Amino acid sequence: MTDERPDPLIALRPWEAPEVTSWGRLPMNAVDRRPGAVVLDGDWRFQLLPAPDAPLGEVWSSSYVPGVWTVQGTDDLPRYLNVRMPFAEFPPHVPAADPTGVYERSVDVPAEWAGRRIVLQVGAAESVLLVHVDGRPVGISKDSHVAAEFDLTGLARPGERATVRLTVVKWSDASHIEDQDQWWHGGITRSVLLYAVDPLHLADVTVRARRDGDLRVDCRVRDTGGALPEGWYVSGELEGHLLTQDAEFDRANAEDERVSGFLGEARLRATVPAVRTWNAETPELYGLTVRLHRADGTIADTSRHRVGFRDVTISGRDLLVNGERVFIRGVNRHDFHPLTGRTVTYDDMRADLVLLKRFGFNAIRTAHYPNDPALYDLADELGFYVVDEADIESHDHAHEVADDPRYLSAFVDRVARMVLRDKNHPSVIIWSLGNESDYGANHDAAAGWVRRHDPTRPVQYEGAAKRGWADPDVASDIACPMYAPLEDCLAHAMSGTQTKPLVQCEYSHAMGNSNGTLADHWEAIETTPGLQGGFIWEFWDHGILQRVNDGRPAGRGGAGLYDNGVAAPGHRWAYGGDFGETDHDGAFIADGVVFPDRTPKPVMFEHREIAAPVRIESFRHEGVVLGNHQHFRGLDWLAGEWELSLADGTTLTAPAELPELRPGETASVPLPLALPEDGGEAWLTLRVTTARDEPWAPRGTVVCLPQVRLRAAFPPAHTRVPDGTVEVDEDGLLVHPLLTAAPALSLWRAPTDNDELGGMAARWRDWGLDAPARRVVSVRREPGRVAVVSDYLCAGGTVRHEQVLSAVADGLFVEECAELPEALYDVARVGTVFETAAGLNLLEWFGQGPWESYPDRAAGAPVGHHRLPVDELFTPYLRPQESGGRHGVRRFTLSAPDATGLAVRLDRPRQVSVTRHRAADLAAVAHHDELVPRAGCVVHIDAAHRGLGTASCGPDTFASYLVPAGVHRWSWTLRVL
Ligand code: GAL
Ligand code: MG
Repeated sequence: MTDERPDPLIALRPWEAPEVTSWGRLPMNAVDRRPGAVVLDGDWRFQLLPAPDAPLGEVWSSSYVPGVWTVQGTDDLPRYLNVRMPFAEFPPHVPAADPTGVYERSVDVPAEWAGRRIVLQVGAAESVLLVHVDGRPVGISKDSHVAAEFDLTGLARPGERATVRLTVVKWSDASHIEDQDQWWHGGITRSVLLYAVDPLHLADVTVRARRDGDLRVDCRVRDTGGALPEGWYVSGELEGHLLTQDAEFDRANAEDERVSGFLGEARLRATVPAVRTWNAETPELYGLTVRLHRADGTIADTSRHRVGFRDVTISGRDLLVNGERVFIRGVNRHDFHPLTGRTVTYDDMRADLVLLKRFGFNAIRTAHYPNDPALYDLADELGFYVVDEADIESHDHAHEVADDPRYLSAFVDRVARMVLRDKNHPSVIIWSLGNESDYGANHDAAAGWVRRHDPTRPVQYEGAAKRGWADPDVASDIACPMYAPLEDCLAHAMSGTQTKPLVQCEYSHAMGNSNGTLADHWEAIETTPGLQGGFIWEFWDHGILQRVNDGRPAGRGGAGLYDNGVAAPGHRWAYGGDFGETDHDGAFIADGVVFPDRTPKPVMFEHREIAAPVRIESFRHEGVVLGNHQHFRGLDWLAGEWELSLADGTTLTAPAELPELRPGETASVPLPLALPEDGGEAWLTLRVTTARDEPWAPRGTVVCLPQVRLRAAFPPAHTRVPDGTVEVDEDGLLVHPLLTAAPALSLWRAPTDNDELGGMAARWRDWGLDAPARRVVSVRREPGRVAVVSDYLCAGGTVRHEQVLSAVADGLFVEECAELPEALYDVARVGTVFETAAGLNLLEWFGQGPWESYPDRAAGAPVGHHRLPVDELFTPYLRPQESGGRHGVRRFTLSAPDATGLAVRLDRPRQVSVTRHRAADLAAVAHHDELVPRAGCVVHIDAAHRGLGTASCGPDTFASYLVPAGVHRWSWTLRVL
């Protein structure tokens, strides 16, 4: 193919023409053409041009489709920016240097397609797609996350070979409305298909299925040969029920002369008796086949759908699914993959949803564009409520674009195409007009289109809702703020002015070690009429697997080069700045509840418990009260086992019989295990698992671990040994055979992302809490006892620390006191740190666990007897930070394989961490792979540890989780095993 004549698609310069949303593109519809299509995925000839109007070179390389060239070995690498555009040009303009990928391949058009209509479908391309066949211009499309179809009939001839060229321009006017907080890439991110249909075909099928069993299927019929042939008709089949054409609808159409002979409309109707309704808990689907017939009864076209019967309504300030006020336990999800950047397979998406299901999520917001079509099939099937969001985010130039008439068609086009594509999915319960694009007339235009086209679902848009949560005139039926402080939500719900359901579109920012106060939020949501939940930001940590030696993305070749959240040696999870960009937003892209390889972060366990379908409401002497916290189903899909954890180290178990409970009901069951008289503290856990195989979990998968305390702890007693020995050095520091660093005061933690972005970390550094100088004030040696007073000199003030070391019957008793001056008012921690000799590699503890927990993220870690290798205690957050903490620890042992080691008992449940890293080690590096584990253990015992909060984006932790100034006292015993 040569470029002799000027190419009209190039001459038009559509990359700087927002009015041009497409040219030659077929209308979007909901007919699935994947079955029977020729899939054109694979290696295509490829050239990366410096600009769309640059001449083609002689040399072709190859590129895998679907994929982005930014991770496929080109010099145009991924780039991460949150709000700011990666170039200075104002909308609709783009820089002259504009990477443009030219993809080309030949296609053998099946000979049996003779006489049929041939269509090319490009699943997704960013951000402008130009299509040529055999050098002839075919069409243009924008809207990077929705497919574009082009009619190739007459261009691609059956039995012949055609050359398809797809030119993808990276920067365009559309980039200004695709300024989502994610990596910038370029390429074709979803499959390319070629398919054939009869000239007489189903142009669209709209299914409406209500919870009362009423089914309406509206068909649009066209004939690309011209006027529709006489006598065509449609029929349908829904699991044995035959659907016939609605005669009343036909008569009305005929009488009104509404449609010409070129557009066919027909409606299929049925009422399904005793219908099994769809909801996220019991996602019942019915198979529907729609057929278009010629007059002689032969079939011209077939379309298959899965139908879920359900209603979505708003009643007062409640969002109802099938009349039930459901809680929205949601997460925001991007199409992301650590090797491909954006291309995800069916199996990838299934794994995402299976994981979310296992951790109690029931809702997804497709942030911030329509996700891969298969995601919605999976959501229908596995049971998720979906807020489907259009691909509109003009964040950097939001205000200008929202009212810019040049972008009007793009707004309406994007919202409409999403709705046309996804309208038949029962999982989709709300349409979203996009994200962070201010609020303007362009939004109202798009909202108007949706309300007319699909009156069965609410519309939401955060930018509109923020004008007033109860404002009836804005384009949002839902009050859907992001990161609203809980007190604002509560105040609104209790103000008497609330008119709309309040479901936060984003909350609880999961960057690094985060999601503090999630349980407090849910406590409020579940007990406050008007609050209905929200969507955690976000599912993924978008780390791209990168080779450390050459800084290149590992690409598809990196399969298997990661495990358990950690990249293999020689690799790392890249975030902003790692591809040589100087202007970027760093680790803000790593803010998900799962690592880049989908390994769950500890917050997932917290969420699982918060979402528990069955809970222990209370414990009285006669028994345990259980409650069903689901909306639609009983407990029969669950099995249970009781676990009684006693302070003496034993755990007793007994099978649990779950009562028959309808949603919302409670029942008392007898205490299943006898509580030993002298056992001290006792905790009863109900280990709830799936009773049978579920589509998303094999039988026996843990669903939740509700727990109740049956008996409180006895305060520990100590027998002092007045003639025992306590050895300290001249600085008053303990000398102990198993410790390589003596117990000292610790006031600092390696700042979490929340600490950094919330401004706390800078204050702590200003105050010098990271490395205070210790000055010994006095060392008083008495028989069996040494009292040491020292001052920790911080720039922000001096902290007086007293440590009294006493010999006791079973070792050493350490009593500590630290007094923080008023100036040091909100510190990371107050506690003890010491380091052990090498070889103590196993931690066993009685306390909360087994996963990481912190004071404001401790609802999902049950109290019990836990054991883990020290190397598995640490959570490998992409940017190293405070990690590995365990909340509510009563006692622990650190031991070698020969069972030697040390045992620590605490005065009361405390925050403890045992890792291979000092706080300073963590704070000194930017990536996990730069950490060098120490041979021994770094042990922290905290009298007080600050909550995590979510201040990297949103509210900080609550006052009750802060570490105040003033006096802190704690004590512990140290014993050699
Ligand atoms: C929101 C935005 C998201 C993401 C998040 C912070 O404001 O909608 O796209 O940027 O903040 O991670
Ligand atoms: Mg944004």
